[in-house]
Amino acid sequence: MASPAVIRCYAFTFALSVFLLITPSISIYCDEDDCYDLLGVSQNANTSEIKKSYYKLSLKYHPDKNPDPESKKLFVKVANAYEILKDDETRAQYDYAIEHPEEVFYNTARYYKAYYGHKTDPRAVLVGLLLILSGFQYVNQWTRYNQALEMVKKTPAYKNKLRALELERSGGVSNKKKNNKMDKKVHEDLSKELDLQINGAEKPSVWGLIGVRLVLLPYTLSKLLLWHGCWFWRYKVKKAPYSWEDASYLTKQSLGAPADAWRNTDDATKDDLVQRQLWVKSNMESYVSEMRRESKRRR
Ligand SMILES: *[C@@H]1O[C@H](CO)[C@@H](O)[C@H](O)[C@H]1NC(C)=O
Repeated sequence: MASPAVIRCYAFTFALSVFLLITPSISIYCDEDDCYDLLGVSQNANTSEIKKSYYKLSLKYHPDKNPDPESKKLFVKVANAYEILKDDETRAQYDYAIEHPEEVFYNTARYYKAYYGHKTDPRAVLVGLLLILSGFQYVNQWTRYNQALEMVKKTPAYKNKLRALELERSGGVSNKKKNNKMDKKVHEDLSKELDLQINGAEKPSVWGLIGVRLVLLPYTLSKLLLWHGCWFWRYKVKKAPYSWEDASYLTKQSLGAPADAWRNTDDATKDDLVQRQLWVKSNMESYVSEMRRESKRRR
């Protein structure tokens, strides 16, 4: 059921995620440097040797003792290298990364998992992802809406409607000779009003966004449950006659009419259709055959 726009949105988000994951791969672990070199130890040094060396170097480069910016940089680098090598797990991952420099993607993913894994709440990641997705969705909706609007504005029907509305407002008097500036303003106001009446191009709504829907899911589900429960109680248990609204809903469903089309049907037609009780199978069958006969007669 995914529309091309939704697929485009997903593809774009996926591409962005891959881009974000690959780009910083240049600066994982100790950047261009070797973490062991930075600490002045060999690759098979044990934990206490690494610790000792780190304390020595951090004293040497400490900003309090060395005001020169180069040593401040080194101080940060050494601290970072120590963060990686003091932990057996991240050290093993780092060793693996040096042994297998070709596995860029894997190493980067592992680095970020170790680096951010304990800091970032997975729920925050989910919320972030939902926000990004919803943002794309919203922008996409507005683009499509504006495109539809532009198209509608070019049709003669729209132009005629606008002119008619203008005449109606000015009381039938054509005010061509009046102030042009004011004319333009009135024109804009009227076209804004007409925009709202365009069918088929639904104005983008915040309520349809993935993120919002997910947050509202418990509410939506309970509302749906309540609705079904009420329906069952009223019409199946108490056998009450359908209210006009519910009968109208049933009619729309049995005709398979889209919500838009049904809303735009005039009341007389709706009334007639509702009276026929099309949700009863035999009524639907006779209605269909009647329609068939009618169309044959017309031809
Ligand atoms: C680490 O290595 C040093 C020097 O080789 C040695 O003196 C020390 O006992 C070792 N420490 C541990 C915990 O293995």
